[in-house]
Amino acid sequence: MPVPPSSPLPAAAAPQRFPAGFLWGAATSAYQVEGAAAEDGRTASIWDTFCRTPGKVFQDHSGDVAVDHYHRFREDVRLMAELGLTAYRFSVSWPRVQPTGRGPGVQRGLDFYRRLADELRSHDILPVATLYHWDLPQELESAGGWPERTTAERFAEYAALVGAALGDRVAHWTTLNEPWCSAFLGYGSGVHAPGRTDPVAALRAAHHLNLGHGLAVSALRAALPAAAQVSVSLNLHALRPLTPSAADRDAVRRIDAVGNRVFLGPMLAGAYPEDLLADTAHLTDWSFVRPGDQKEIHQPLDWLGVNYYTPTVVSATAEDASPGREDGHGGGEASPWPGADRVGFHPAPGERTAMGWTVDPTGLHQLLTGLAHRHPDLPLMVTENGAAYHDRVGADGTVDDPERTAYLHAHLAALHRAAADGADVRGYFAWSLLDNFEWAYGYDKRFGLVHVDYPTLARTPKSSARWYARVARSGELHPPAGG
Ligand code: FCB
Repeated sequence: MPVPPSSPLPAAAAPQRFPAGFLWGAATSAYQVEGAAAEDGRTASIWDTFCRTPGKVFQDHSGDVAVDHYHRFREDVRLMAELGLTAYRFSVSWPRVQPTGRGPGVQRGLDFYRRLADELRSHDILPVATLYHWDLPQELESAGGWPERTTAERFAEYAALVGAALGDRVAHWTTLNEPWCSAFLGYGSGVHAPGRTDPVAALRAAHHLNLGHGLAVSALRAALPAAAQVSVSLNLHALRPLTPSAADRDAVRRIDAVGNRVFLGPMLAGAYPEDLLADTAHLTDWSFVRPGDQKEIHQPLDWLGVNYYTPTVVSATAEDASPGREDGHGGGEASPWPGADRVGFHPAPGERTAMGWTVDPTGLHQLLTGLAHRHPDLPLMVTENGAAYHDRVGADGTVDDPERTAYLHAHLAALHRAAADGADVRGYFAWSLLDNFEWAYGYDKRFGLVHVDYPTLARTPKSSARWYARVARSGELHPPAGG
C-alpha cells in the first residue's frame, strides 16, 4: 500500500531571515575524524575493536587515520572560519582522555581539546563539546558496557574530569549523542559497536545511558561556571503510519515509545512511559531501574539537541511476518526495537540520498514543532542534519554537489518555518564539516561540506559549503533558484 506523501511545507516567497546570534555550525565526532588512534596514550574504544572484527564494517575500514583531524585541526578551523561558521560541534574521545575509563585524565589528550577550543575561539567560533559520541573505552565494555550500571557511574566521573579540564574555555556541552543508537544498534541489532544482539541488554543500556546522562549533567554543573550550558542530542524518529488504520497508528505508538519516549520520558518528564514498560514486560521487569534513578535522570537542560535526517514510516505486521528492515539503520539480523516485533518499516516516498534515506524536511518541522508544543520552555538546537551523496571531484578539481545544497536548503527552510510556528530553535549544525568515517559504512558514504581525498587527506570545500557560507554570513535563506 502506498504511503501518502506528507504535505509539503509552503514555499517561502521572500528571503527567510534568521535571528542575530543564531548559531551556524557544522558537526563531527572524535572517532569519525581524529585518527591518531594509538597516539598520546589513547587506547582502544569499542569502535576500534568492532572495526578489527572482520565483516562488521564496510571493507574492514577503521578510524585509525580517519581524516587526521587530530593533526590537522588548525587547517580545519581555518576552513570553518572561511566558511563563516560561528560554532563547531565536536566530541571528546573518552579513550583518549581517560584510556581505561577510570582514574586520572591523560594530560596530552586533554591538551588536544584545549588547543582545539583555543583555536576555535581565536576565530570567533563557539566550541560545543559532546562528551560521548559512541566511543566507549574497550575496558569498560569488557567489564559489561552500558548494560551495567557502573558504566553510568564511570561516565559521570569522566564528565567531571573533562568539565574541570575544559570548563575555562568551553561553555556549551552535550552529554550524549544519540543514545538510541548506542543502546539499540550497539546492543540490539548489533550493527554498531560493540555488536551485541540482546534485547534486554539494549533496554538495560538505554537506562544506564539515561542515568549516565543525568549523573553527567550534575557532574558538569558542579565542575563548570554557572553560565555554562548543558544539553543532550537525540535522534528522534519523525514517525508516520503507513495507513490511518488503528493498527498502524499503534505501530507508531510502539516505535515512538522505544525510539523516542524511552529517552524523552525520563530526561524531560522524570518517568519511563507506562506503555513502554507494558510493551517490553515479556522481556524484562525493568528492576534495573532503582529508586531515585528517574529523579536523577530528570535534570534541567539548557537546550535539547535534535538530530534529524529522514522520516520513519511504520505499519502493523502479522505475528509471523518477519519485520521489514527498512528502518534506515543498516539492516542487521536482529531487531533494534525490543517490544515492537510486529512492526514493519517502509520507505517514505520521495527522492533518496546515497544512504537510501528519503529527503523529507517535513519530518524536521514535525519534530521541532511537536517538541515546542510539549516543552514550550526548552530551547532547541538542530545538532545534526545533512545528506550523503556520491560526490565526485571534477576535472577542474572542484566538487559540485547541488543535491546536498538542495537538501540543506529545504531543511533550513523547514527549521525557519518551525520557528515561525513557535519553536525556539537557537542554531543549526550541518552533518558534517568533513567527509569522514561513517560507522558501519566506513568511508563509502560522504556527508561532508568539505570533500576529503582519502589517499592525500586534501580538503576541498564542495559547492554546498560555499552556499552554506553565504547563508551563514547573511543570516538569510533565499528561495531556491527557479523555485
Ligand atoms: C548520526 C550520527 C553521526 C553520523 C550521522 C550520519 O546518526 O550521530 O555520527 O553518522 O548519523
